[in-house]
Amino acid sequence: MKKLYILSPVEIGEIKEEIYGHFTEHIGGVFYDGLWVGEDSDIPNTDGFRLEIIEKLKQLAPPVIRWPGGCFAEIYDWRDGIGPREKRPVRINWWQANDGRTESNAVGTHEFIHLCKLVGAKPYIAANITSATPLHIRDWIDYCNSENKKTSFALEREANGSSEPFKVTYWGIGNENWGGGGHMRPEYYADEFRRYSEIAHNADPSIKCFACGPNAADYEWTRRFFAQYTDTPLKRTLRIDGYAMHYYCGNTGNPLEFNDSGWYQQLTQAQTMDRILNRHWSYIKGYGMEEKAKLVIDEWGCWHPGGSGPSKGYNLFEQQSTIRDGMVAAMTLNIFNNNADKIIMANCAQLVNNLHSLFLAGGKNCIVTPTYHVFDMYKGHQGGRALKTADNCGRIEYINLRGERASIPALSSSASFKDGMLTLTVCNSSCTDEAVIEIEPVGMKIYGEAKVTLLADEDYHAYNSFEEPDRVKTISYTFDSDTQKYIKIPKAGIMSLCVAAQREE
Ligand code: AHR
Repeated sequence: MKKLYILSPVEIGEIKEEIYGHFTEHIGGVFYDGLWVGEDSDIPNTDGFRLEIIEKLKQLAPPVIRWPGGCFAEIYDWRDGIGPREKRPVRINWWQANDGRTESNAVGTHEFIHLCKLVGAKPYIAANITSATPLHIRDWIDYCNSENKKTSFALEREANGSSEPFKVTYWGIGNENWGGGGHMRPEYYADEFRRYSEIAHNADPSIKCFACGPNAADYEWTRRFFAQYTDTPLKRTLRIDGYAMHYYCGNTGNPLEFNDSGWYQQLTQAQTMDRILNRHWSYIKGYGMEEKAKLVIDEWGCWHPGGSGPSKGYNLFEQQSTIRDGMVAAMTLNIFNNNADKIIMANCAQLVNNLHSLFLAGGKNCIVTPTYHVFDMYKGHQGGRALKTADNCGRIEYINLRGERASIPALSSSASFKDGMLTLTVCNSSCTDEAVIEIEPVGMKIYGEAKVTLLADEDYHAYNSFEEPDRVKTISYTFDSDTQKYIKIPKAGIMSLCVAAQREE
């Protein structure tokens, strides 16, 4: 019999709510006309933001949203996005060479903060260090966080409509500085990080500054960054509040056309997140920085060739999301939960009309993707204590797209405990067979009716579109955990289970 054990005595740590975060960049159709339709639009909106997205996003209890980039952050001048909207300048967008689009600055700091308030999320701002000075960033922090009337920037903020400080705690010091953010060497960036974060704290000592970490498996970036960063007699005074890495799964071709090999290969790429983050973590520990430099995975998701989304390529990087993308999201979130002791934040890239999106919108149309459903099914994990899971389900062998033998775990799972409830999420990797499993809690009793939610479709290519908005949706049912033993997860299916539980002392 296939068994899934929930090992209550093996507690991993708290699953920080921020692990369920999102990312919104000024790129393609993320804001214009994804999130932002403008106050005068005949598309239902709240203060310019698309109402349907606001309402549905709120249901996910989104903890944090990262903004304004991405690469866009590295040319962004925050002063362009404040003051009367009609007077704001139109600028060259970072991505102009790709899509010819300019930046209207209709959405700036006040609008972004308002978006966060509307959905109950904390703001996370990625600051420009490639083309702006430390003082420029300090002034932005002053503008956002200084108490009412304390400084000239606070007065300007009030004149622009907000006497209350924005209280932005999370600040990214640059973005991808190994690439678009200045093609810096890790040693150079480490020095820049010290300089910028020192000055940033001058405006508000309570903020948290995240350093730019590596692209995926670039372990040299991590090794060299920490070697340089910690090379100071004042090591104990160093202030780094998080280390931000990016990892995208890609290179499996058209997201709508794949076979079993493409299914398993994409899932294998998702599973690789575990190895990559753990290897970076061992360098962080090796340099004695594990208490200060926890991981922030502020861009993650699938990166397919563009053009498969509803705008047919008009919105840069916009892609459709199938059941397979939902499965990547579910497995990735399981990995984050299972590494909850190392990760303080993660942001799925990106929220609307872009890479691994939760929403696709254009004109009056707005749909959710399978990844939206996954975030909904997993939200019970936020703030819970992560418990280790184990199974005896083995691995699935397959031939990858290069014709080589490969394998992947048959199940991916994670569990957490919060307020007397157990949340368990399980993915069945097999695209051919359902999984029938017995759930066995160890050091814990589960009781009463469990709520089970499933996301699955007979066809793993299934996706939602403007024409068929609810093709992929969840179904829920109850499971009597006192009398029933086995649970079925359809092929290529994702399950969440929520049940009352008592842990042994
Ligand atoms: O998410 C799209 C882009 O991917 C971001 O701007 C950049 O940070 C990354 O390379």
